[in-house]
Amino acid sequence: MAWESGRIHFGGDYNPDQWPCAVWDEDRRLMGDAGVSLASVGIFSWAHLEPAAGRYEFGWLDEVLDGLASSGIGVDLATATASPPPWLTTAHPEALPTDREGRRRWPGARQAYCPSSTAWRESGLALVEQLATRYAGHSSLRMWHVGNEYGCHTSRCYCDVCAARFRVWLADRYTDIGGLNHAWGTAFWSQRYSAWDEVLPPRITPDGAWANPTQQLDYRRFASDLLLEEFVAERDVLRRLSPGVPITTNFMVMTRFNQLDYWAWAAEMDVVSTDYYPDFADPHTHIEAALCADMTRGLADGGPWLLMETSPSAVNWQPRNPARRPGALRRDALQQIAHGADGFNVFQIRASVAGAEKFHSGLIPHAGTDTRLWREVVELGAILGRLEEVAGSRVEASVAMVFDWQAWWGCELDSHPSVDVTYPDRARALHRALWESGIAVDIVAPGASLEGYSLVLVPTLYLVDDDVAPVLDSFVRGGGHLVVTYFSGIVDRNDHVRPGGYPGAFRDLLGVLVEEFTPLLEHESVHLDDGGSADVWTEDLRLAGAEAVSTYRDGPVAGKPAVTRHHVEDGVAWYIATRTDVDTTARVIARVVADAGVSPVAAAPPGVEVQRRRSGDTTWLFVLNHTDAEATIDATGTDIVTGSAVSASITVAPGGVAVVREGGDG
Ligand code: GAL
Repeated sequence: MAWESGRIHFGGDYNPDQWPCAVWDEDRRLMGDAGVSLASVGIFSWAHLEPAAGRYEFGWLDEVLDGLASSGIGVDLATATASPPPWLTTAHPEALPTDREGRRRWPGARQAYCPSSTAWRESGLALVEQLATRYAGHSSLRMWHVGNEYGCHTSRCYCDVCAARFRVWLADRYTDIGGLNHAWGTAFWSQRYSAWDEVLPPRITPDGAWANPTQQLDYRRFASDLLLEEFVAERDVLRRLSPGVPITTNFMVMTRFNQLDYWAWAAEMDVVSTDYYPDFADPHTHIEAALCADMTRGLADGGPWLLMETSPSAVNWQPRNPARRPGALRRDALQQIAHGADGFNVFQIRASVAGAEKFHSGLIPHAGTDTRLWREVVELGAILGRLEEVAGSRVEASVAMVFDWQAWWGCELDSHPSVDVTYPDRARALHRALWESGIAVDIVAPGASLEGYSLVLVPTLYLVDDDVAPVLDSFVRGGGHLVVTYFSGIVDRNDHVRPGGYPGAFRDLLGVLVEEFTPLLEHESVHLDDGGSADVWTEDLRLAGAEAVSTYRDGPVAGKPAVTRHHVEDGVAWYIATRTDVDTTARVIARVVADAGVSPVAAAPPGVEVQRRRSGDTTWLFVLNHTDAEATIDATGTDIVTGSAVSASITVAPGGVAVVREGGDG
């Protein structure tokens, strides 16, 4: 279903069941003052909606939804299955999850369930059936919200029921036990299986003995598929009983959370939505926010998506929880819109006074409305209202970066050449180099069409299917520019090394042959002959058609190439064989970008982010000033944040924002 947002939504999780109903009137009044258009209701309300098996109590929800409807506030209605109620796990203890050590995980927090449990599944689907029947026609209903952050807390259960389902999943993938033995490489360490019932999840093994890597990988694939099956089961009930109402579930911060294969998940969504929580301890969290937003837009196939949750100010779950700086909420919200979101929502609308999240900020803070935060919330709501014309427009980019959750899982398996090689590290590094140059980037799946892109980046694609290299090959031959970083193309989908020299799948295209990995020790670094430096990783690489762009001055492979470039027909394939530092990465990427003829969205001072959205001939230039100094950007049109005309240039205050509808004389 193509989703049309129709506006820039603003709102968040709304948990009225935590409050006496006397508060609900005030909630609605304040939501009106803040311009809230979307409330996500009932996400953790199962125990409230069904206090005993089969005894449903919808009266309070009727009242909440009727109230929201009469206030003109739309509802993203949860299926409420994210956390089973205590009566369910008391009656069915087998519905609780089991960890790798065979220990049961107990209720008392949230999301304690085994995804294979029949009791959990049947009760959950019965609740969804009730909700869909009752509220399908409710005038407040804008969207259905299935579960919550699937994979959070319990991403994998290792119980016997899951083991049996794993075997079914494996039999489907490999047909016979011989296929499994081959894929898992069980000739190693006497692991050969004679029958399916010998096969188990990768439970805890004797100390220091690694579980079979392909078994681990397949268990992650299976676990992602299993949860997706549960999502689809609920979604299909909703589609049957509430046709035409779009359905979503919120993904998690995708540069940090890697429990699900989001490419597979995105294909099943009507609306792609995600949560993004800044890591205030990371000085570059605003660049990570841009990356996550770009990833989410990629999952939405370039179409509109929703930021479903972030914190209005502080969170409660970091060791130290700073508040957002004055003005930052507005800038951070507009950053998400700049990257293609058609909505900005938070957890949660009113801050809780009890429970584990009582020190998590809310739109309505504990201190009430005579507060800076509330004034900023009201201001933001008004701005998002003025941005309505941007809804449905798209971000354009001529650069793509390949990202893959299965490659991430493979890359970070145990017993690898270096624990310092982590999957998102190079994706962040390459993305940062582009971000700092003001260059827009799309995130694509391995093997996706690369039509229309001038430059494609492939960071650390350790695990890669056979059909991916040919796509990159024809992209380069057709005149494309490609950058691949180390530890890419190493194994096939079964985690078997591609022999004949690294980087296996991409060796010929890159025109290099790596004889041996020569990772560095902790705190070791190396220098390059062009003044660059690097750490973590080097390789004993020889040229096989490519030219050396830079070589190592020191370290285990002194004199050998570190960065190479290979002309292939009309295009160029670059290889970065080491973990270049920030400046060196920036220099390499600047050269690649210049060669590829890629231009920035607009010229902007360092730390000032620019993005453009387009709909037909209309374009909007977003300017987000992440610095402490005023910034002036060339632009002509109207700043729709303030309504002021912009002729030739606009000056944006420190921490400020502008959204210029471009064109005209200003
Ligand atoms: C999210 C979750 C919300 C809330 C929030 C707090 O991960 O979906 O329910 O717990 O974190 O930051």
